[in-house]
Amino acid sequence: MGQSLREWSVFLYRKFKSVFCVSKIIATFGFMIKAKNIYKFYGNLEVLKGVDIEIGEGEVISIVGESGAGKSTLLQILGTLDRPTDVAKYATEITIDKQPFLKMKDKQLSKFRNENIGFVFQNHQLLPEFTAFENALLPIKIAGKNESEYMDKAYSLFEDLKIAERIHHKPKQLSGGEAQRVAVVRALINSPKIIFADEPTGNLDSKNAEALHQMFFDLRDKYHQTFIIVTHNTNLANSTDRKFVMKDGKILS
Ligand SMILES: Nc1ncnc2c1ncn2[C@@H]1O[C@H](COP(=O)(O)OP(=O)(O)OP(=O)(O)O)[C@@H](O)[C@H]1O
Ligand SMILES: [Mg+2]
Repeated sequence: MGQSLREWSVFLYRKFKSVFCVSKIIATFGFMIKAKNIYKFYGNLEVLKGVDIEIGEGEVISIVGESGAGKSTLLQILGTLDRPTDVAKYATEITIDKQPFLKMKDKQLSKFRNENIGFVFQNHQLLPEFTAFENALLPIKIAGKNESEYMDKAYSLFEDLKIAERIHHKPKQLSGGEAQRVAVVRALINSPKIIFADEPTGNLDSKNAEALHQMFFDLRDKYHQTFIIVTHNTNLANSTDRKFVMKDGKILS
């Protein structure tokens, strides 16, 4: 009885904490993402079966679920890298920071993506001919901004992630976990409003994974950035503001 009472109180506390936290964030800052009726087919394979999701500005949320549930597909669509199937037929609507990006033309969409969105993927795709430092500054170069103004920020992010002594290494001279952290610096350098991370701690040992989690929360507190994290890491998923569970192309909770 004592045990179940305790479990029940912990459950209520978590439930209340998350509802309070989310409603407070949304009431204060509004939505960063609003999406409804997302469908995705690959041929006859229906991978997303009508996903609706709303995420508040400054929220750190996780998406979990078994392999093949559609998590990466959803992340790519929310992150503007892929399009849902038949937007008109399903009346699909997605906004990021109130911008309905499905209506944008390619050039406008690239600009929108570069200015607002950061990505951290497990397959980190660093450019082999550039050093870690140059790779991290690429979004600045692409945006046509002055790289020298961002060097201090890049260096301090490298320091936070404990890879400052690897900045002159090329990707093939980095371990998988180091390359992953360079990709994190690259995702954050532009101070995007929203960061999409697909298995960001997949290549990291538990100490570095923990440091990266902490960094996500610190950044949210400091800059009010929004984080959408797909993860199999139970600790990370349970420590986010809200956890969404995906199964067979739908969000269960
Ligand atoms: N380009 C593609 N063409 C055909 N099928 C695809 C394509 N991309 C993904 N799929 C299929 O869509 C389903 C969902 O894939 P997705 O990558 O979104 O899963 P996931 O939830 O991220 O899984 P994991 O945890 O293994 O990364 C899978 O069954 C996959 O085989
Ligand atoms: Mg995936």
